[in-house]
Amino acid sequence: MCGIIGYVGRKSAGGILLDGLQRMEYRGYDSAGIAVLDQGTIWPLKRVGKVATLTRAYSENFRHSGTIGIGHTRWATHGGVSEQNAHPHLSNGHRFAIVHNGIVENYEKIKQFLQEHGYVFFSETDTEVLINLIDYHYKKNPAQSFIEAVRKSLRHVEGTYGIAVLSTVYPKELIVARKSSPLLIGIGERENIVASDAAAVARYTKRVIYLNDGEIASVTADNFSISTLDAGAPKAVLHELDWEIRDSELEGYPHYMLKEIFEQPTVLENAMRGRFSEDDCSTKFGGLPITLQDLRSADRILFCACGSAYHACLEGKFWIEKFARIPVDVEYASEFRYRNAPMGQHTIVFVVSQSGETIDTLAALNEAQRRGYRVLAITNTVGSTIARAAEAGIYQHAGVEMGVASTKAFTSQLTVLSMLALLIARTRDMDAIAGQQYVRALRSLPETVKEVLDLSVEMQALAQKYHHYKRFLFLGRQAMYPIALEGALKLKEVAYVDAQAYPTAEMKHGPIALVSEETVCLFIATQRTFWEKTASNIQEVRARGAKVIVIVSDDQIFDERPYDEVVRIPAAHVGIKPILSVIPLQFFAYYTGILLGCDVDRPRNLAKSVTVE
Ligand code: F6R
Repeated sequence: MCGIIGYVGRKSAGGILLDGLQRMEYRGYDSAGIAVLDQGTIWPLKRVGKVATLTRAYSENFRHSGTIGIGHTRWATHGGVSEQNAHPHLSNGHRFAIVHNGIVENYEKIKQFLQEHGYVFFSETDTEVLINLIDYHYKKNPAQSFIEAVRKSLRHVEGTYGIAVLSTVYPKELIVARKSSPLLIGIGERENIVASDAAAVARYTKRVIYLNDGEIASVTADNFSISTLDAGAPKAVLHELDWEIRDSELEGYPHYMLKEIFEQPTVLENAMRGRFSEDDCSTKFGGLPITLQDLRSADRILFCACGSAYHACLEGKFWIEKFARIPVDVEYASEFRYRNAPMGQHTIVFVVSQSGETIDTLAALNEAQRRGYRVLAITNTVGSTIARAAEAGIYQHAGVEMGVASTKAFTSQLTVLSMLALLIARTRDMDAIAGQQYVRALRSLPETVKEVLDLSVEMQALAQKYHHYKRFLFLGRQAMYPIALEGALKLKEVAYVDAQAYPTAEMKHGPIALVSEETVCLFIATQRTFWEKTASNIQEVRARGAKVIVIVSDDQIFDERPYDEVVRIPAAHVGIKPILSVIPLQFFAYYTGILLGCDVDRPRNLAKSVTVE
């Protein structure tokens, strides 16, 4: 969602804030702003639109080189998209400025209270209420410390927040605090940077401290001190970032989405590195505290996730049920948190989240823990809220994913889940030879993915031919159904076209009513087993005028003449085939989006991590 940043040090703050905002822009981006404290005055600068617009305004008009400031990219929640609603927000009298990620749920009540005390409001936001509450508490006792004034205010706030606050009264200090919204302090040399996202600080320092819920910190150029809202003294744990700055740069690609699709061979290699067993018949995960006995005696596995991560879990279900023969439930995290899902005595819960910050997934994790279950996380983000709240977990090591539409993070989730299926299977039904074949397939994955990446040109040509069609149906059976779902989601997200997915045979039970000359049907039919049945389904849609793109494996030999388009991927083990099958669909979505003039890296209405309900 929104990105927040703050700088205090010895350099001019403006450029550093803008650089950080630009690196976080993938989080949320309908408007952006900074505020710098210079010569005793807070100077705000805000613009609707991209950070580039703000940067232009900064170079043209901004002449304030103060060494302390805050910044924000906004994804509107309270109030429309306007300069007035953009952050930072200033208190009446301009003593304080704030950037805020989250929602103050009781803001109406606080607003009314403040209005009764003479405060006036210029925006429709909950954030402006919060900064005036801080001013109110400061005025009640101007002798108190900055942190105390903020702490007192936050005690009255219901809702969620990650905040950074700047003040003319305390010119060398930033106050930051969090509740259900990420915040970290990057520890530099005679400078410190606070941000909601490691991408914003990675250029300046790799040493970070993640705040926990209910913590508040005072940050100066040379120091920081963390306490809790009730003035407790928590222990700060220093983390080393494993993100490279080049992850957040385009490196010659026109878009992050394309760069990240092409990064997949390396990403999948990283997901697997050091994770095969000594005998090469299984896998191992250093971070997983469950024993082989735990896995063997598990009566059920439950996955909770959202969006693409949910699709990855559906694939995990297929692999685990097929190879390890344990029943697997996959729940939308947003649904699980509010329902009393029946679970077994030995159910193991996995939450899967690229960002590690998705609020629904975090709430599902909390709910499962509340019920006494062990919860493990699969996430890409070291130190994220979910990584820290789970008992333990598996990191994806995919590097920062900047494109809003998930590509490399999705395939790395698939890779980790396939490896997990193998691990569990080897404690149960799978023999060593089958394990060895599985490992061999996984080891071959990066090289095979490279071959699939050669389809870029072919998929671009197909996008050229079909991008003007009105409706797209993605159809796949068994292991290819989650891939159909993901292909349709990608196309919706980055090309804004009507794309739906169904299990292939299910199409006859209703969705076929949608099929006409204006429909393109993409059959993800890379399994030989189902080819004859799929071929009949293809005839059914062709008879109704639809265009057909069929994705098959190299080992499927048939007369290609009746099909509009046949795309071939290398034949492979079922443990990796879904990973290969999704890549042509990523390309198709990307090129279709480009041809339709969409901003594929920052699609409308979407944000990279959804930290509000
Ligand atoms: C789709 C996409 C989203 C996310 C979903 C969960 O391209 O990126 O559907 O997969 O919002 O996000 P994480 O994995 O960060 O919990």
